[in-house]
Amino acid sequence: MSISYRAVRVLPQRARAHVWIVTSEAVTSGLEQVDSRDLDNADFSGQVGQTYTWPVNGRVGALVGVGPRAEVDADRLRRAGAAIGRRLGNHTWVGAALPDVDLDGAICRRALVEGISLGSYKFLTYKSEGEPVKLNRVDVAGGVGATNQGALDLGRAVAGAQMLARDLVNEPGGILTAPEFADRAAAVGRDRGLTVKVWDETEIAEGGLGGLLGVNRGSTLPPRLVELTYDPPGPKHGTLALVGKGIVFDAGGLSIKTGQGMMTMKYDMGGGAAVIGAMSAMAEIAPAAQVRAFVPMTDNMLGGDATRPGDVLKIRNGKTIEVLNTDAEGRLILADALSLASEAEPDAIVDLATLTGACVVALGPKIAGLMGNNDEWIDAVKNASAVSGERVWHLPLPGDYTKQIESSVADMKNIGKPQGGALTAGLILKEFVAEGIPWAHLDIAGPSWSDSDDAEITKGGTGYGVRLLIELARDFEPPGGNSAAESEE
Ligand code: BES
Ligand code: MN
Ligand code: ZN
Repeated sequence: MSISYRAVRVLPQRARAHVWIVTSEAVTSGLEQVDSRDLDNADFSGQVGQTYTWPVNGRVGALVGVGPRAEVDADRLRRAGAAIGRRLGNHTWVGAALPDVDLDGAICRRALVEGISLGSYKFLTYKSEGEPVKLNRVDVAGGVGATNQGALDLGRAVAGAQMLARDLVNEPGGILTAPEFADRAAAVGRDRGLTVKVWDETEIAEGGLGGLLGVNRGSTLPPRLVELTYDPPGPKHGTLALVGKGIVFDAGGLSIKTGQGMMTMKYDMGGGAAVIGAMSAMAEIAPAAQVRAFVPMTDNMLGGDATRPGDVLKIRNGKTIEVLNTDAEGRLILADALSLASEAEPDAIVDLATLTGACVVALGPKIAGLMGNNDEWIDAVKNASAVSGERVWHLPLPGDYTKQIESSVADMKNIGKPQGGALTAGLILKEFVAEGIPWAHLDIAGPSWSDSDDAEITKGGTGYGVRLLIELARDFEPPGGNSAAESEE
């Protein structure tokens, strides 16, 4: 059940819980709701992450801290929202009051709503005794322009899209097979008024998608490629292409992973899930740009006729790749998808992929590696990231490292040296983006999955990237700049 949000002037008396989001200054100067000695005793000083609750005749009062006034930003309000979602999710109706801060009221309301929805997210499909969240109504008061409903609706749409991505990622690989993933993506697309095209195995073969076919060769289940298109109601302001890696389970192929290494590999479609999630919100967000999504889908298994190390695959754009490690499969299916996306001649491409363990080593579990061929477009991704709160870090695509992927039998091989693996993966992808198209690549191997709950993130699939993609689409400007340039630091 999803939560509905309403902008109100004052907290409704009848809500089951009242929560005030407070700065540390507000606590110091004394709150009318609670005796300051009780707060002292509970060590509540309004710092970020702190909560305090008390009973009020059958209902609940709560304080959630956001720290010093000057430090309050969207991230902190999202985090406060998540605390509300987690602590008060067992109440049906909550009234929440925003703090008195200098931040734009719309930004506050949107972040709060994102936090409440995302923080109360649960994946209960396979729990026989799981307790669904009871919270279904939140009234939000306070902040500049307090009665403006728009920011609440935006936050709710964005969070809904991200939770759809989480649901897809959390679904086991044996259930969300490629055909099933495609069916669900197509159903979402039709439901949200998008144009849907699903490539089946025959079309994939006839279309020359040799990377996708090669990775799929060890599987008993067929591959798919899903295309979703959002067309704006008015005149279109450019075209943005989204590409997402959709490996529904990565066993590594014949270059098999360890048992430990494949334990979480159902999340190897986190990029594809983020793209589908973002597309699900397009009609509601209504950007002025056309947005086109391309998600190649397969598992990476080890059947008797699986692609062997040494095999050569021919990608959609005609280039050939010698496969020396079948576990470097994401780049093979993305090569086809980026070629296809390029054929649509978009004004910019962004791809999301759980591509390399090397990127997780470099940046840890919370930050995505950002690479690309156009500095203006890289900046646009950084700006979207700053708004969405999903962190990115720009990594180089060093031209001289291209030597590492030279092959003696094909146009390139699919692996470089063990060090700097995120960059060689990026360099391979770059070969499949047509000349002159601004392109950005996000290696989301770290942030697409979480081992624990943390602020708005919940354990398991995180839906990382959905908010960033929506932000990119929302005020899309076709980038200029020189896309042939190697964006070397
Ligand atoms: N899906 C993995 C990358 C990955 C690893 C994602 C850990 C999330 C967590 C990818 O297909 C892969 O196996 N990459 C290899 C590439 C190597 C063989 C060049 C890797 O990172 O080890
Ligand atoms: Mn792999
Ligand atoms: Zn993979």
